[in-house]
Amino acid sequence: MEERKIHITYKSTNQKTDFSSAVQHLIDETISFSANAYAPYSDFKVSACLLLEDGKILKGTNVENASYPVCICAERTLVSHAVSNYPQTKIEVIAIYVDKDLATPVPPCGLCRQTLVEVENRQKKSIQILLIAKNGTIIQFDKCSDLLPLSFGSEFL
Ligand code: THU
Repeated sequence: MEERKIHITYKSTNQKTDFSSAVQHLIDETISFSANAYAPYSDFKVSACLLLEDGKILKGTNVENASYPVCICAERTLVSHAVSNYPQTKIEVIAIYVDKDLATPVPPCGLCRQTLVEVENRQKKSIQILLIAKNGTIIQFDKCSDLLPLSFGSEFL
């Protein structure tokens, strides 16, 4: 049997100034937008905002429901909005924030990773992912597919 390895590189910083001024603004907007999260059941407020190639910022939050499986994550709220309303405009960066005191940034769930990979494949250009913690730590992935190795995609259909 041949052993194969998957290697993923990501970066971590506590310095917002490591990013361009446009991305610093995206980070600020993402953090403040968590106030819009509709999370009365979990009280786990998530916001996700993205920067389009034309400089526009789009925003989303998790939206919960009394019927728990109906809840939608912030990332999928955001990506659905972007794909529906700006189908021709590429996404450059997606920032994700959770308004909770935790030691590390929160990674997106599996459903959201699959959604992120689909939108990245569709636009044929990498999307940078920033995971922002309340304590100021920011983790950066250069592309969505780094978060979902061996992903399922249209090439198998
Ligand atoms: N949630 C997100 O918004 N994104 C994720 O990637 C993980 C979970 C939301 C869904 C639900 O409203 C709450 O967090 C608790 O699971």
